[in-house]
Amino acid sequence: MSKFMFVSDLDNTLVGDETALAELNRLLSKHREQHGTLIVYSTARSPTLYQQLRREQDMLEPDFTVLSVGTIIYPGGSDHTDAQWSEVLSEGWDRDAVVATTAHFPALTPQPDSEQTPHKASYFLSGAIADDLISQLQDALIQKGLDVQTVYSSRQDLDILPRQGNKGAAVAFLQQRLNMPQSHTVVCGDSGNDLSMFQAANAKGIIVGNARDELREWHQRESPKDMSVPQARCAGGILEGLR
Ligand code: GLC
Ligand code: MG
Repeated sequence: MSKFMFVSDLDNTLVGDETALAELNRLLSKHREQHGTLIVYSTARSPTLYQQLRREQDMLEPDFTVLSVGTIIYPGGSDHTDAQWSEVLSEGWDRDAVVATTAHFPALTPQPDSEQTPHKASYFLSGAIADDLISQLQDALIQKGLDVQTVYSSRQDLDILPRQGNKGAAVAFLQQRLNMPQSHTVVCGDSGNDLSMFQAANAKGIIVGNARDELREWHQRESPKDMSVPQARCAGGILEGLR
């Protein structure tokens, strides 16, 4: 197997089974050493919550970190975000106007300040009313001329992002930057905010065994090719899928 780009979500995908993660770390770091394989973490966590996870878990140092649902990119080991990606996201994005619009929806509870970042506004939203509320919110945003996207995950988290930004778009940006074709990229995930990574044409994907219905239903509906749905959970599922 030659050099490839390994992209994984963290919570309930890479992280969640420590024994399997240790084995995956061993294989990936060997592959990186021998073939120059690139390791990319792609998470919805903010920089603050990502650092917290790094302290709690035994994880490899990635080559790139994609944070806050694809709206922040850090080159590995750097303290500086990728300015070019921020510039792409800023085009047409008016966070204050988005927040002013969401204020008309009392069912949206803002997430903690640490999760509110320049290109992401995040809320808790109950699954029971989510479908109707999201469609009303989308109408309200369009009426205000705000061309943004909503990403709903795990029947509880609603992220509002610039139209140009999500995990899939961030990965595509890195593929271009690093000259890594989709055929040499493997993306792994378990929930709604990972969907954009799986939707990219020709992406090879691993939907881990503990994945949420929102991903499973998409997989059943679309039957995408080059997609593995292993039995095992978290890193165990990634190992199974890679094999
Ligand atoms: C993480 C983030 C949160 C986001 C959620 C789903 O929990 O901290 O901001 O809404 O993932 O994407
Ligand atoms: Mg996850």
